[in-house]
Amino acid sequence: LPDPDAAVLTGPDVAGLLPRPGASSDKYRRGVIGIAAGSERYTGAAVLAVGGALRAGVGMVRYAGVAEPVAQVRARWPEAVITTLAPGEGVEEVGRVQAWVLGPGLGTGDEAHAIARSVLSSEVPVLVDADALTLAAQDRSLLRRGAPVLITPHAGELSRLIGVPRERIEARRLENVRRAADELGVTVLLKGSTTLVAEDGRPVRINPTGSPWLATGGTGDVLAGLAGALLAAGLSGYDAASCAAYLHGIAGREGPLTAWDVAEALPEAVRSLLDGPADGT
Ligand code: APR
Ligand code: MG
Repeated sequence: LPDPDAAVLTGPDVAGLLPRPGASSDKYRRGVIGIAAGSERYTGAAVLAVGGALRAGVGMVRYAGVAEPVAQVRARWPEAVITTLAPGEGVEEVGRVQAWVLGPGLGTGDEAHAIARSVLSSEVPVLVDADALTLAAQDRSLLRRGAPVLITPHAGELSRLIGVPRERIEARRLENVRRAADELGVTVLLKGSTTLVAEDGRPVRINPTGSPWLATGGTGDVLAGLAGALLAAGLSGYDAASCAAYLHGIAGREGPLTAWDVAEALPEAVRSLLDGPADGT
């Protein structure tokens, strides 16, 4: 039965929401995203998250991380402005950003916690993913902040946050994504075979794009960068999450693919929507 409190996203919906650069745009107005991701052990997540944001067409990426992911990001993405964090250091010196992506490959130790705390202490919207969700499940105070929070869990990550077993979340995804948005007071993008976006007082958005080829390591990191780019451009968490899920699904329609391929396919996915109708007609 159709659920009046849920809506399937359409291409025209997304095209109508996507930011388009205007003649007088500059990189600051188009959106500067801060990305705090990666650790000495997990470097690829940082490279993929930065790639997701850059390929989405963000104005600028400021990447902050420790030595090894910094070296990898620098080698792959000369476009990124990089700050190397000393162990235990936060992101206070990174410079102005309009939103943050926090968590892919970050690790869950004390250094990661210090980075997470500093990012969440900022006054801009923060997308919280992956290891930062594990940290938030351990330390509830992290998600308590004035500015908006968008979380992007898969069912396992959401399970730890709301204390509902993973199988129960998978069996009742719509109910549990609503519950999470309500209980946590944040916008929730629940990943999986069908991605859902929930925010208190809004209909749950159901993403129709994507394919099982996306079930490969690192595609979630690309999604985080992509959604962060849209947040930095000024979309609300609800709209940024919806557009990101839809575009990511288009970019991941045909396989076999790697997470890198998904990032590389984003410009074409964006173009396919911008070329279409923008007003929902
Ligand atoms: N059909 C469509 N899309 C899918 C499917 C499917 N069957 N399975 C997964 N996806 C999509 C999700 O919706 C999401 O966009 O693929 C992406 C996977 O993202 P994540 O679950 O975050 O996985 P990722 O971070 O890329 O890699 C796994 O996350 O939890 C950690 O320990 C885990 O290191 C591992 C990493
Ligand atoms: Mg992930």
